[in-house]
Amino acid sequence: MSKKILILAGDGIGPEVMTEVKRIISWMNARGLTDFTVSEGLVGGSAYDVHGVPLADETMAEAMDADAVLLGAVGGPKWDSLDFSVKPERGLLRLRKEMELFANLRPALVFDALAEASSLKLDIVKGLDIMIVRELTGGVYFGQPRGITTLENGERQGLNTQVYTTSEIVRIAEVAFDLAYKRGKKVHSVEKANVMESGLLWREEVQKLRDARYGDIALEHMYADNCAMQLVRNPKQFDVIVTDNLFGDLLSDCAAMLTGSLGMLPSASIGADIGGGKRRAMYEPVHGSAPDIAGQGKANPLACILSYSMMLRYSFGMLDVADMLDNAVQDVLNQGIRTGDIMQAGATLVGTSGMGDALLKALEARA
Ligand code: IPM
Ligand code: MG
Repeated sequence: MSKKILILAGDGIGPEVMTEVKRIISWMNARGLTDFTVSEGLVGGSAYDVHGVPLADETMAEAMDADAVLLGAVGGPKWDSLDFSVKPERGLLRLRKEMELFANLRPALVFDALAEASSLKLDIVKGLDIMIVRELTGGVYFGQPRGITTLENGERQGLNTQVYTTSEIVRIAEVAFDLAYKRGKKVHSVEKANVMESGLLWREEVQKLRDARYGDIALEHMYADNCAMQLVRNPKQFDVIVTDNLFGDLLSDCAAMLTGSLGMLPSASIGADIGGGKRRAMYEPVHGSAPDIAGQGKANPLACILSYSMMLRYSFGMLDVADMLDNAVQDVLNQGIRTGDIMQAGATLVGTSGMGDALLKALEARA
């Protein structure tokens, strides 16, 4: 039966990289490897320009109804001065919240062909394979109370609330432990239990869950500042890292850069079982809208393409097709084909569509 994919390309380089993904989807459909019906909508600044809001209600409804959502990127200088409530990022956060996508999986994988592109020494990153599991619908991103008010003395005050409940912690820790079972059976749980009560609760609940149900998993607790330091000192000590929304945002950018470029990193955001084994899910590259290179045909489409591969894997269980796509990405890198962000001496520089061409060729060769 045909599956419904909603594509929200967004702003900046979003539409450019998404064009390459659409070519791959068409190719796979034509080959009979997949049977996807694709529809498209607006999110972020591009939605604001048309609807006056960064995500229209109709688009939200379509996302709720889709079997999976693929998102490009949101934001850009054009919309920087908008009121907070209609900033492009609010569109993305609304999708995450209303679809209840509490588990954000951000793999940081160093491709052999790119190990030298890392700013760290080769032996520190070669073979690196970390999975960051970021809580995505709670914490300071959504905690109440929040806002900017004027105090009696005339000073202005900005307020946000970091808050977690037991069930929020337990469900994200379950995701991390379940993933660790299929990997290196090691989880680092990251918070600031030394200064935050929400961090202390996090630590206690994760440990309790490990002791009750995941005895085979090695669990270590780490403060977030130390984790940032350890990620650049000795990243291979990590297998799965589970952390809250804000620390996950920071640490995943840091981990991504270990791999050489933000342009390579995909992510999956997954919700709870909503019946019949179905989970809502949204897939997006970790990189942003990159306004500095938008519209120039230079952007690396691989993070978005690998996000589509995660969709094949996690939403549809099409492991063979996902492997084929991941392998085709490896082929292209091994052929020395590079966009500007991962360019190396002696390699062949291509633009966004050139990378798409090379990938389709590699897929043809593997099909
Ligand atoms: C990310 C981004 C978003 C976040 C922004 C665009 C709202 O940085 O997905 O990591 O902070 O979560
Ligand atoms: Mg981020």
